Amino acid sequence: MLVVLQEIRALEDYLVMPDAEISSRIEAAREALGPRVVILGHHYQRDDVIKHADLTGDSYQLSVMASQTDAEFIVFCGVHFMAESADILGKESQRVILPDLGAGCSMADMATIDQVEDAWEQLREIGVLEQKVAPITYMNSSAAIKAFCGRNEGVVCTSSNAIPLFDIYLKEFDKMFFFPDQHLGRNTGAKFGIPLDKMALWNPHEELGGNTEEQLREAKLILWRGHCSVHGRFKPWHVEQRRKEIPGVKVLVHPECMREVVEVSDLDGSTSFIIKTVEESPAGSKWVIGTEVNLVNRLQERFPDKQIELLAPDLCMCATMYRIAPQNLAWAIENLLDGNVVNEIVVDKETKHFAKIALDRMISMTNSKAQ
Ligand code: 13P
Ligand code: SF4
Repeated sequence: MLVVLQEIRALEDYLVMPDAEISSRIEAAREALGPRVVILGHHYQRDDVIKHADLTGDSYQLSVMASQTDAEFIVFCGVHFMAESADILGKESQRVILPDLGAGCSMADMATIDQVEDAWEQLREIGVLEQKVAPITYMNSSAAIKAFCGRNEGVVCTSSNAIPLFDIYLKEFDKMFFFPDQHLGRNTGAKFGIPLDKMALWNPHEELGGNTEEQLREAKLILWRGHCSVHGRFKPWHVEQRRKEIPGVKVLVHPECMREVVEVSDLDGSTSFIIKTVEESPAGSKWVIGTEVNLVNRLQERFPDKQIELLAPDLCMCATMYRIAPQNLAWAIENLLDGNVVNEIVVDKETKHFAKIALDRMISMTNSKAQ
């Protein structure tokens, strides 16, 4: 079919359109594109975007969906690292679009490939790499860091499969170097009984990450000093306060929350785990949830027969995820109709090759074990 290229539509024109018009334009463009396009939406996406998603999920599920779809265009309503993973796992011919290039992840930005390679070199210089050390990166990281893990026998994990992957790697390796979320690393390590004094914290701005050689040699887990600023807002005193306010409430948090919060909660798990736990609870259940506000609000709407509250009374929103507005989606998808691919996410060939090794390892090792 001959596609006549049109001039790229300007985003500014969409920003002034009324919501109802935007919504019907997205639907019309989707219909016209048919199976050529798939819209993926992360659980933290806002309602006015998620209603247009063909498939929704946590970051693990979305990466599997991206590897299985045949659509020519994957429009990713999530953040940058998720779209990169879709490009890595997708087919050669598929093109991935992030409707707003500013939708990044502040945690992922806390570890750069240069810093990670430098840290690895420092470990080599002091002889720590003579032990078997596996680099493991949280999905919330750049493609370059995933590729680093792929090259060095490591793997990618998400919050839904960190436990089975730690289980495998702790048996096969002497230690793990975990990037970039110290909290997911610490919370998962604690589930395996690793004491805190065997978990070193690596500060990329200090020599040896701020540790002594002995600490690094003795550590079972080296944790990169990164965190999520959204989940970092939850404090142990919120849990205490909410338990007093709502007698009998169960506290359910994401493992990106600090250890002190997870310790005083009842349950912790990925966004899908949180949704499933609430779905399966009986009418009348009371939940206080420590994760992003859009997900919690949606659960409140879906289950009016259950009491569902956000753990922190102040707003806890992933501002970068929120950047993807319906206006951006309409702009991206109508440009596709014209034959113009805007905001394409392309991972270079070499990085893609090694990052795919780490992602494929994750999928094959944890197929059916993610929760
Ligand atoms: P999930 O892996 O649970 O989807 O979480 C991703 C994320 O970025 C949470 O902050
Ligand atoms: Fe990144 Fe935190 Fe937003 Fe998740 S909630 S995408 S970790 S900034």
